[in-house]
Amino acid sequence: MIEVKNLRKEFTVDGKKLLAVRDVSFSIAKGETLGLVGESGCGKSTTGRCLLRLEEPTSGKVFYEGRDLVSLNKKELFTFRRNAQIIFQDPYSSLNPRMTAKDIIAEPLRIHGVMKEPALDKYLAELLSLVGLSRSVLSRFPHEFSGGQRQRIGIARALALKPHFLVCDEPISALDVSIQAQIVNLLKNLQKDLSLTYLFIAHDLAMIKYISDRVAVMYLGSIVEIAPAEELYKNPKHPYTLALLASIPLPDPVLERKRQHFCFSGEVPRALVSPKGCPFASRCPQATQKCRDILPQWTEISPGHKVACHLFDDQLCHSNIK
Ligand SMILES: Nc1ncnc2c1ncn2[C@@H]1O[C@H](COP(=O)(O)OP(=O)(O)OP(=O)(O)O)[C@@H](O)[C@H]1O
Ligand code: SF4
Ligand SMILES: [Mg+2]
Repeated sequence: MIEVKNLRKEFTVDGKKLLAVRDVSFSIAKGETLGLVGESGCGKSTTGRCLLRLEEPTSGKVFYEGRDLVSLNKKELFTFRRNAQIIFQDPYSSLNPRMTAKDIIAEPLRIHGVMKEPALDKYLAELLSLVGLSRSVLSRFPHEFSGGQRQRIGIARALALKPHFLVCDEPISALDVSIQAQIVNLLKNLQKDLSLTYLFIAHDLAMIKYISDRVAVMYLGSIVEIAPAEELYKNPKHPYTLALLASIPLPDPVLERKRQHFCFSGEVPRALVSPKGCPFASRCPQATQKCRDILPQWTEISPGHKVACHLFDDQLCHSNIK
């Protein structure tokens, strides 16, 4: 459904170039959830926004069902927007405090001229029931809801135009831990019932474990490892993935040994210019001069499991991290 090829996004901040997304490529199949994980500022939201053309890529291509998004004219882009929506991270700031729940959820329908009263009321009640809310919430304002209820309203708004593809940009990270599982389960059930395809963004691996079919790990604008979810958790390869997993307690003794071997050190470098070697080199306990000089290429470790790290250049790999 989605194919991203060499996507690059640069911003200019105080006259300096900031490379937010550095030649990223991946695809998402219909009905699949691709988890995108990485620390704050690594370029996850920018990638998601480029996929919806809420942000113009500096270079590279994004194909939606085979069509290049950059080539869409205004009218085609308007139609595309019905098919592809976003759920935002912060249910507190993403809902207009002066609008009722009804106005918020119906806004996309109004913009696209899709539905009017009285069909609208019936449709809104159906949408609310899909996200586990009653129609009595329609006349209420955002401040009257809990974080979980607000996120359900955000989800109802995103679903109003019956999209096929959703970017879920950290939809649970601002919520209480007790509510997070409810929202993940809701999104999982909606995916099944409505045949949705997701890019699900999160900043830690624990959060996306149960929702993702595949996981892409991002560091400083680059995807450094991508694999089927189960494979990534069982058999992580990239030192950064191991470092991310180091924050999750692991019952498996082999992984636990790797976990202790890898830990974060050093500051996250600022992505102001394009570094020439591996993006993780300044923090990686395994870094060599080659890592600092040459950008690692992809190595396919097993079907669908790819890693960009010089430790795997010859497929001799990981014998030093047993
Ligand atoms: N509109 C913008 N103008 C300038 N810089 C931007 C803009 N949007 C993002 N950036 C910068 O691009 C980089 C990537 O930002 P992005 O929001 O994509 O990261 P993220 O991985 O989503 O982080 P978080 O987990 O905090 O949401 C950051 O350094 C950020 O400051
Ligand atoms: S390429 Fe080198 S610096 Fe980068 S993750 Fe691999 S070992 Fe570490
Ligand atoms: Mg973000």
